[in-house]
Amino acid sequence: MEIIISESPQDAGSIVADAIQRLLTSATQPVLGLSTGSSPLPVYRHLIDRHERGLISFADARAFLLDEYVGLAPGHPEAYRSFIQREFTNHIDLSPEALFGPDGTSADLQGATEAYERLITDAGGIDLQLLGIGGDGHIGFNEPTSSLGSRTRIKTLTDTTRADNARFFDDDADAVPRHVLTQGIGTILASRHVMLIATGESKAAPIASAVEGPLTAMVPASALQLHPHTTIVLDEAAASQLTLDAYYREAYAHKPDWQHV
Ligand code: F6R
Repeated sequence: MEIIISESPQDAGSIVADAIQRLLTSATQPVLGLSTGSSPLPVYRHLIDRHERGLISFADARAFLLDEYVGLAPGHPEAYRSFIQREFTNHIDLSPEALFGPDGTSADLQGATEAYERLITDAGGIDLQLLGIGGDGHIGFNEPTSSLGSRTRIKTLTDTTRADNARFFDDDADAVPRHVLTQGIGTILASRHVMLIATGESKAAPIASAVEGPLTAMVPASALQLHPHTTIVLDEAAASQLTLDAYYREAYAHKPDWQHV
């Protein structure tokens, strides 16, 4: 696990965007895993800017959403497909047919989750999976006690997560869907490179638990300790409860040039 502490959310976003740029310019058919929520927004802004400057193209890429609410009408502004289109993919040259997400409107949710796993496998797996982290340590919508081997499936959100996400639903936690479809922890661990971005003080405790605490289903993000190529990119506030922060800073400052993020 590599921990990178940057000065600001914008700098953190730039570091993640660098890794995505490297993937886009080196792979013939890059496969991205996209997260929603506030954390990845600086990444998307950097990528849109680089696309507008002609530095990167998504024309040959495919993108898979991490999760989706169950039961929101197609096109609902807070459906994660709408969110990612509004914040990111409408501003780049990713083909609309190359954007995939779990179908939270399906009458057969179990079938939809199995179909989604097959789509990811048929694409050759995810090259780079972008993640945020919840206040309770969730990744995707794998809430505490999620199986560390889980695949895409339906989950029930905790009241904490629904309260956290109420800001997207006119501050009404009851309007936040109770159920979601989410890539499982096993699905996330199968991607070739995981990059988690976390910024702000509210992420300091879950980051310290995930990075320096024990591997436990009570902190789903701690499962990333098992992944051979995970990069955690933080701002100073999100890094503020790490005990080995001096070591992480030294390791990054002396990272060999050939060893990219
Ligand atoms: C979003 C997702 C969630 C968020 C997490 C943090 O697709 O899967 O795990 O990454 O809830 O959300 P923000 O970034 O809004 O604090």
